[in-house]
Amino acid sequence: MGRGKGFGKVILFNEHLVVYGVPSIVSAIDRATTATVEPFKGPSWSLDDRREATPGYKEEKLEQQEESIERILKAAGIDPTKNPIKITLGGDLVAASGIGASAASCVAIARALSEEFNLGLSDERINELAYEGERAYHGAPSGVDNTAATYGGLIWFVRGRPIELIKIKKPVEIVMGNTGVVTDTKAAVAGVRERKERYLEKYAKIFKEAEDLAYKTRKALESYDLKAVGKYMNENHKQLQAIELSCEKLDFLVDIARKHGALGAKLTGGGLGGNMVALTPGKELQEKVARAIEKEGFEVLRTKIG
Ligand code: MEV
Repeated sequence: MGRGKGFGKVILFNEHLVVYGVPSIVSAIDRATTATVEPFKGPSWSLDDRREATPGYKEEKLEQQEESIERILKAAGIDPTKNPIKITLGGDLVAASGIGASAASCVAIARALSEEFNLGLSDERINELAYEGERAYHGAPSGVDNTAATYGGLIWFVRGRPIELIKIKKPVEIVMGNTGVVTDTKAAVAGVRERKERYLEKYAKIFKEAEDLAYKTRKALESYDLKAVGKYMNENHKQLQAIELSCEKLDFLVDIARKHGALGAKLTGGGLGGNMVALTPGKELQEKVARAIEKEGFEVLRTKIG
């Protein structure tokens, strides 16, 4: 039996804009999806998806998930009609929007295939296979999610360039709040593309400001100026709102987090639902913000960046 694992992730800066080459900052989180691959008596591949999930997530993503598995198998050079396999997904990463669930599963499957078929794939190749799989979910992915899911760590990611790891003094607590709304990332990415072409000047200005902000944030992270990081996250949320990626529930969660002392909060990932992230250094602040969100009936994840 082949086994594999892929990390969940949180995008701290510039989701969507990253598709167009704007630098982004992403961190893997301490939750992962696991996959096993084993021989199976059947005509092709089969899937047993045991991940805990936001209600509706698995059903909405099923078609994309099937396409994604086909793409990964093809890229790995495996013909499942000749080598029928059963893929089982599990792990402690909840399958939800905005948390890198699709990328984590693509990486986990690629790693498990590599082990089962003795392919000896390098991390670089695993990342490429996962990117292929991500195309089914994102349309034209930047590669940020599969990169975080493959390598882990806190990453400065620019599309098409080698990744750079950002070093920080110590990991920082964050809270992720789940709106419970499942997002179609492919449609969200396509929506930005369409509006970007329609409102050329407006989008060019926002993209430039967001790029400058990413550089400032990197410096602030490296000097562990968390107040500044939080302030920049708030600004980034405004930029993402301006390109129509937020929604009422995301704004609501962002407000609660800020009201309860988060240094900053923003939507994270595909937007239009999914998750928000709040910067809450220290266990006490993290707990305060997490409880406030839970009190409103939303699921939260207490985790760390870096
Ligand atoms: C989704 O987690 C991240 C997006 O920026 C898409 C991508 O980069 O491929 C929305």
